[in-house]
Amino acid sequence: MAKAKSVFVCQSCGYESPKWMGRCPSCDEWNTMIEELINKATGRKASGSGENNKPVPMDRIDLSMEARGSTGIAELDRVLGGGIVKGSLVLVGGDPGIGKSTLLLQLAGSIPRSHKTLYVSGEESVKQIKIRGERLDINNQNIFVLGETDLDIILEQVKRLVPDMIIIDSIQTVYTPEISSAPGSVSQVREATARLLRMAKTFSIPTFIIGHVTKQGAIAGPRVLEHMVDTVLYFEGERYHSYRVVRSVKNRYGSTNEIGVFEMKDKGLVEVPNPSEFMLEGRPAGVPGTVVVCSMEGTRPMLIELQALVSTSNLGMPRRMATGIDYNRLSMLMAVMEKRLGMQVQGQDAFLNVVGGLKTDEPAVDLGIVVAVASSFKNLPVDKAAVVIGEVGLTGEVRAVNSIDRRVSEARKLGFDNCIIPRDNLKQIDRKAGKIIGVGNIKEAIGAALEG
Ligand code: TYD
Ligand code: MG
Repeated sequence: MAKAKSVFVCQSCGYESPKWMGRCPSCDEWNTMIEELINKATGRKASGSGENNKPVPMDRIDLSMEARGSTGIAELDRVLGGGIVKGSLVLVGGDPGIGKSTLLLQLAGSIPRSHKTLYVSGEESVKQIKIRGERLDINNQNIFVLGETDLDIILEQVKRLVPDMIIIDSIQTVYTPEISSAPGSVSQVREATARLLRMAKTFSIPTFIIGHVTKQGAIAGPRVLEHMVDTVLYFEGERYHSYRVVRSVKNRYGSTNEIGVFEMKDKGLVEVPNPSEFMLEGRPAGVPGTVVVCSMEGTRPMLIELQALVSTSNLGMPRRMATGIDYNRLSMLMAVMEKRLGMQVQGQDAFLNVVGGLKTDEPAVDLGIVVAVASSFKNLPVDKAAVVIGEVGLTGEVRAVNSIDRRVSEARKLGFDNCIIPRDNLKQIDRKAGKIIGVGNIKEAIGAALEG
C-alpha cells in the first residue's frame, strides 16, 4: 500500500509546503502550518467530455440563466448588482455577532413565498433558528431548516428538496468525510466550497455561504475561497454601533465596492435608504476638528464626518492613530502639510476618526483629512455648511476626483451649500446653484474651509 501523502498547509493563507515550518513564508504568520493528508480521489478530474463542451459564438450565448431575481431587500439587491443570479455562489464574511445569520434569514423570508429555501446551519440548532425567525417575524412553510454539517448529507438533501436558494451557515462548520483534517481547516473549507460551487452551477441554485473572519479581517481559510466564488460580501460596522454596512468586494455580476447600509434593530436589520443623513446624525456644530467629506461607495456618494484631534505631544515619537482611514495616508498628508504650509504638525500627536466606524480608502477624502487636521491644529472650526472634496498630491496640490457632479448634488441634497472642490473639476459641474469654490492646493482649501 502506498504511503499516505501529506502536506503542510498554512491555515491563514493556504500556502503549501512539504515540510513543517514555524513561520509561513507567504504570509509571515507563526504556527499556522498544519499537516493535512492529500486525498488523491478528490483531485481534479479531466474536465468536459468534448461533446457537450464546445466553443459557442458569443452572440448565441443564452443569457436566460443569468436572470436576476430581486431579494426583496433593496440594499441587498444593490450590493449583489441588481439581485440574485441563478447558480451564483455568494460568500458573506464578517465578524462574529455582526448579523450574517440574521441578514440571510431575513433574505430567506423576503424572497417570494413560493420559493423554497434550504437553510443549513452547523452553528445553531434548528430550534434556535426558529426562535430567531419568530423574532424577525419570519414564518414561512417554504423555508426548510437543516441542522447538519456533513456535506454529503447536505448535498443529498439538496437533491431531494430541490430548493430555489441555499444558505450555508457557516462554511467553517461544514466538512467532507473524505478529508481527514478538521472542519474549518484550509483543505476542508476549500473542498466544501468547491463542491458547493459545482452543486450551485449544476442545479443552478443560488447559494449563499457564510464565512467567519479572522482577527486580521480576512475570511478565515485561504484567499482561494474568494477566487472560487462569484461574489464576496463583507459585513462591516462596529458591534457597539447599530449600523451595518454590507460591502461587495468582488462581484462577477455587478460593480464592486457597492455598499448596502442597514441598522440593527430589535426586529433584525432594517434598511437605511439615505445613509448620508444617518452618518451625519448628531454631528457637533462649530467645533474645531470636524469636517464633512464625500466618499463614493461604489456608485453611491456618501457624506461622512471626519474628526481630527491634534495636540502637543510629550513623547519623543508623537502618536498617530487613524480609525477607518489608512494610517500611512494620514502620516503622508501631515508630512505634506508641514513641508508645504510650514504648519508644525509633525511633532504633534494626531488622532483621526471616521465617525460611525465606517472605513474608506477613497483618495477624494484626502483634502478632508488635511482640513480636519488644520482645523484642530489652529483651533478654528470648519464652516458648518462646507463639504470638502479632493485628492492631495505630494506637492500639496489638489487633484481632480471622479463623479464630482454626483458628489456635489448629494452634498446639496443634505443642505451643504459650500462645496470646496478641486479647481480642475470646476468645468464638470453646473455652477448655477449654491456656492462652489475650486481650490488648486491645500493652502487655498484650508483658507476656504476654516472660519475666522
Ligand atoms: P447574528 O446574525 O447571529 O450574527 P452572526 O451570524 O454574524 O454571528 O447576529 C446576532 C447579533 O444581532 C446579536 O448580537 C443580537 C443582534 N440582533 C438584534 O439586535 N436584533 C435582532 O432582531 C436579531 C435577530 C439579532
Ligand atoms: Mg451566525
